[in-house]
Amino acid sequence: MRIAVFGTGYVGLVQGSVLAEVGHDVLCVDVDASKVEGLKAGRIPIYEPGLEDIVRKNHAEGRLNFTTDAAEAVKHGRIQFIAVGTPPDEDGSADLKYVLAVAATIAEHMEEPKVVVTKSTVPVGTADKVRAKIVEVLGARGRSDLHFDVVSNPEFLKEGAAVADCMRPDRIVIGTSDPESEELLREVYAPFSRNRDKLIVMDVRSAELTKYAANCMLATKISFMNEMANLAERLGADIEMVRQGIGSDQRIGYHFIYPGAGYGGSCFPKDVKALIHTAREVGFEPKVLQAVEDRNEEQKSVIFDKIVAHYGSDLRGRTFALWGLSFKPQTDDMREAASRVVMEALWKAGAKVQAFDPEAMEEAQRIYGDRDDLMLCGTKEATLRDADALVVMTEWQAFRAPDFDLLKEKLKSAVIFDGRNLYEPARMARRGFAYYAIGRGLTEPPAASATPRSAA
Ligand code: UDX
Repeated sequence: MRIAVFGTGYVGLVQGSVLAEVGHDVLCVDVDASKVEGLKAGRIPIYEPGLEDIVRKNHAEGRLNFTTDAAEAVKHGRIQFIAVGTPPDEDGSADLKYVLAVAATIAEHMEEPKVVVTKSTVPVGTADKVRAKIVEVLGARGRSDLHFDVVSNPEFLKEGAAVADCMRPDRIVIGTSDPESEELLREVYAPFSRNRDKLIVMDVRSAELTKYAANCMLATKISFMNEMANLAERLGADIEMVRQGIGSDQRIGYHFIYPGAGYGGSCFPKDVKALIHTAREVGFEPKVLQAVEDRNEEQKSVIFDKIVAHYGSDLRGRTFALWGLSFKPQTDDMREAASRVVMEALWKAGAKVQAFDPEAMEEAQRIYGDRDDLMLCGTKEATLRDADALVVMTEWQAFRAPDFDLLKEKLKSAVIFDGRNLYEPARMARRGFAYYAIGRGLTEPPAASATPRSAA
């Protein structure tokens, strides 16, 4: 099938290349000419395991092409996916200007019937706005005779596992009431539905809300666990034991109940805020969602609070080694990452940071540029030189079993702040570390005065 995909960000590029991988003829369009040129040459603008291979292969084999020419893309296929960004507005609502601009473009250039599929995460009611935009532009062209349908088909991929998620989705949600559109999308997704029918067909608004409900439910699990972790700490309980104790109940399950330094990324923070906004727009106060959001905001500072509890609030002259900049492993994405909140708080308190991340070094450089209080180091070991303590912010595999003897030797004093609960407190105590984790009982660190400052 011939398919056009607008937007070559995470969702568009991954979905487009996976559709090509199963044999569809896909044309991806983006307004960014340098990005399009790069993609044609096999340069992938994001780090995502497996993506480069399938982009290069399918491009070489002619099933995946890239263009800046929107008219060509509209002509290319009956099915037009909209996968452009929906950045949050200042008030937390999703900004639809790019989505609606694509809708206008499609209406501008279409000469035969089209099925327009919204793939971006968009608020409930967006399909209606897309429909209205197309009606308006077709009317202005005097082509109201042209038939089209707008379908909601939200994406559930996770960064770092995007290709695998797209190749083997848990479910494919299709929001449409038009049997013809349903049939077309069944055909598009047939290769992904072979061992069982993964399509769940529903009305457009339910499909739109499904996406938000899924992300908000997952965010709720995390904020709930973070709340329990903070409570466990004050009660002298160990959240890791509690996690296993509750996860064994099949109704709760082990997934997404890891406490930590707060959730980040491009989806959860944005989607929780957007659904709060949507709820208020219809006069409904979303109490659970607001609590999820508030807990997460506070959680991102928990590690910094522990640093202050240990050293005091004046951190001038202190240097911290920081492992992990991306919002989670297997990505270079630092959007809404807890590492940023911690680093920025450390800088404000006068400290320096020596950071390492397996993938996000360029991204950190792009965001923070050259500054005296940030040194981006080539290895995780290099961050330790003359550092007062180690702060772990992302659970990359490479951080799980470090050489603790080396850590003790290099750090000025054996202090670790762990925002991802990677190590065992009892073992760390035996090794002689002051070890601060999330929700793991009462920590009795050595006195702060035992750690000299490097300079005032
Ligand atoms: C998420 C959803 O999983 C995906 O279905 C949706 O389409 C987009 O949003 P993503 O943002 O890539 O995907 O990341 P995810 O792996 O879900 O992690 C989100 C954040 O939650 C990370 O910061 C992670 O560290 C945190 N997290 C996750 C926890 O703190 N604890 C957990 O138990 C799980």
